[in-house]
Amino acid sequence: MTNNAADTFENSTDHASYLRARETSEKIEAALAKDPSQFRVLTGDRPTGHLHIGHYFGSLHNRVRLQRSGVETWLVIADYQVTTDRDGVGPIKERVYSLLADYLAAGIDPSTATIFVHSAVPPLNQLMLPFLSLVTESELHRNPTVKAELEAATGRTMTGLMLTYPVHQTADILFCKANLVPVGKDQLPHLEQARVIADRFESHYGHPEGSDSPIFPRPYGLLSESDTILGLDGAKMSKSRHNTIELRMDADETARLIRKAVTDSERFITYDPENRPEVSNLLTIAALCQNRPAEEIAAEIGNGGGGMLKKVVTESLNEYLAEHRARRVELEKDPAQLQNILHEGIERANAVADSTLAEVREAMRMVY
Ligand code: TRP
Repeated sequence: MTNNAADTFENSTDHASYLRARETSEKIEAALAKDPSQFRVLTGDRPTGHLHIGHYFGSLHNRVRLQRSGVETWLVIADYQVTTDRDGVGPIKERVYSLLADYLAAGIDPSTATIFVHSAVPPLNQLMLPFLSLVTESELHRNPTVKAELEAATGRTMTGLMLTYPVHQTADILFCKANLVPVGKDQLPHLEQARVIADRFESHYGHPEGSDSPIFPRPYGLLSESDTILGLDGAKMSKSRHNTIELRMDADETARLIRKAVTDSERFITYDPENRPEVSNLLTIAALCQNRPAEEIAAEIGNGGGGMLKKVVTESLNEYLAEHRARRVELEKDPAQLQNILHEGIERANAVADSTLAEVREAMRMVY
């Protein structure tokens, strides 16, 4: 989603429900540490561009951590969702494969994780029909994230897909019976909608014959812990502002972009997010890469000023991303292998979606 949308959501959201979601997240982290096998993760991205360091530190890193801890992982490359806020799909094939390359380079393991595009999984999309019957128009219109995204897409009127994509996203999550969705807080209203749909499906159609548990689990959000990083101009990071560093960029391009980053006129470097957001943001990036406190890095730079700060950030980031980038280059040399991985994921997703849809049709007595 866009950053404006995040702002609006932040202002209008019910703070109490955010705090509840935080609390739930913490409980889930504790349960995960004990027994990861009780969870199945589904999450995903819209292929609207290339992944950047904000995605890496905000979500990709966490997904890899979850998978490595033993949680079964499903990743949707949400191609149909691209058209919610724009006309047309852009260079979608290139973007889908770029996402896939970043997932794999980051450490997602396709032998246990399932990566798919939802347009290639018809039975997943068919779940949208029964699910749509379980939501009201006013619920759809009340979703704060949808409202904010529409506002951010200046001048656009609401399309049927924009209004209903949270229901489609529910199908993304529930077709594989995922109960854990690592997301940013903008996605919390969608998860609430997904739980409502799962509840109503159960109360309308009951349990599968001979079973005392419902077809669909209730999915919960796992909020990411890490600080959000800003763009290199100190504004929110966004593709359209060209203030990001994409994972696919090389070391030289990274250096060039960081050289142009905004700092301030005070030479002595300190970590002070309130009063020195740009400098502090650069320190945060270095801190995430070096896995130590930003204050410590600031103290080391001290009188070295903006020039030294940029040098440290460039070196930290390039070193941190070096392996990722090398793996990415290797992966892109073999498009046939990438295609195989995606096709295998699509096949697995179809098999699971077929079986869930069969259960749904059975529950709805639509077996003839
Ligand atoms: N809407 C999500 C985003 O913009 C992407 C997405 C699509 C997703 N389907 C999903 C996220 C299912 C979590 C679960 O980031």
